[in-house]
Amino acid sequence: MNKLDSELAAGQLEAAGFVPARDEESACLVLLNTCSVRAKAQDKATSVLSDYTQDERARNGHRLVGVMGCVAQQMKERLLTAPYHADFVLGTGNISQLREILERLLAGERGILAYEPECSGWDYDPSTVRRKSLRSAFVAVSRGCSNLCSYCIVPYVRGTIRHREPKSIIEEVKLLTETGCIDVCLLGQNVNAYRYDGVEFVHLLERLAHIDGMRRLRFITTHPKDLCLDTVKMMAHPPFAPYISMPLQSGSDRVLCLMNRGYTKEEYMEKVCWLREHVEGCFISSDIMVGFPGETDADFEDTLQVVRLAQFDNVYSFIYSPRPFTKAAGFGNEVEREVVKARFERLLALQRENNTKRLRPFVRKTVEVLVDGMSRKDRSACCGRSPQNIIVNLPDDRCEIGELVLAEITKAGIHSLVGKVTKRLMPAPAPKP
Ligand code: 5AD
Ligand code: SF4
Repeated sequence: MNKLDSELAAGQLEAAGFVPARDEESACLVLLNTCSVRAKAQDKATSVLSDYTQDERARNGHRLVGVMGCVAQQMKERLLTAPYHADFVLGTGNISQLREILERLLAGERGILAYEPECSGWDYDPSTVRRKSLRSAFVAVSRGCSNLCSYCIVPYVRGTIRHREPKSIIEEVKLLTETGCIDVCLLGQNVNAYRYDGVEFVHLLERLAHIDGMRRLRFITTHPKDLCLDTVKMMAHPPFAPYISMPLQSGSDRVLCLMNRGYTKEEYMEKVCWLREHVEGCFISSDIMVGFPGETDADFEDTLQVVRLAQFDNVYSFIYSPRPFTKAAGFGNEVEREVVKARFERLLALQRENNTKRLRPFVRKTVEVLVDGMSRKDRSACCGRSPQNIIVNLPDDRCEIGELVLAEITKAGIHSLVGKVTKRLMPAPAPKP
């Protein structure tokens, strides 16, 4: 969601006549998009903000500095004063007001706060979103979340769930495919909870699946309690990509209940079985939290047991971080730091084994890769994603962002594959005039 919001903001900046700076030094405006899901992300955002407004402003007096995203929504006017001194703060539902704010800034105004809780966030022109590639797009179907998981700050900084009108979603996706997009990722904090005037998520998927040109249709994030069998069965057929992100959070029923997640480990495993049964080669990615208040050794063993059973293809693991406004922040019962660290390491080690097992069978196989950027390790090499959303590095090939190729896999790592292009299927689409 933050990536999409950055693209929405970049589109507004371009529409106002701004162009991307060559480097940070030469930028006349810096807009920080921020996350507050864990304390570390929030601290990083405020520390980067202070660097910009204190040290850098001393050197470059004209630079404007703004903050958007969850930290902006959470801290609001506090970011306009010491020690942060942002010039403007943009709430999570206010991105479409950026253009108007830029005009006010250019007219000399400072200290602008645009913050409207529960703002729909849909009032933007889809043709102005500045995407990295014309081949891939994030499309939001809902914003906010009404689940109130006891550890999570999202409902407080992104508001309760607001669903987007199906017509508007379908029009945007049609517009995207007409300009060469083949890979759409639908976004919602709890995407399966989508419903609008009797149109449920599965109905929306059905309509989108029929749009010409669609090759990879994905959605994130799936809440296990809201994933239904109809959706899973639909995922079995093209253009659905064999990929799902379905956070487990904990494998202990006691902790799941304290987290207010609304499912048991058995219910979670049932959904994993549906996916394994109906969606061939489906990659299942999960999020798991370690050190929730009062988590015992037995609770943690339950989590490891589910990780072993589910054989996740990938896991994002997090150490619990108490967040303002949330119920769990008042639970007390903190787990000792050393204990949490040791559990976290065990989870990482187990998942590393699983990842290796899941990626090894790709060696010597041919996979379709949609090139989406340069490799992190070697900036001259390109990389892309397989239909299962696995990163594939192509170190010996020169490709353009947006190209679709076939690659033979030569090596499997823990989190990514290495391949060699064997066939070029589609060139990068021509940019908009
Ligand atoms: N502490 C640690 N991790 C968290 N997440 C959400 N809230 C917290 C928190 N307070 C994790 C969850 C979620 C992912 C996006 O971030 O695992 O799925
Ligand atoms: Fe947070 Fe739970 Fe909503 Fe996910 S489903 S955004 S974890 S409240």
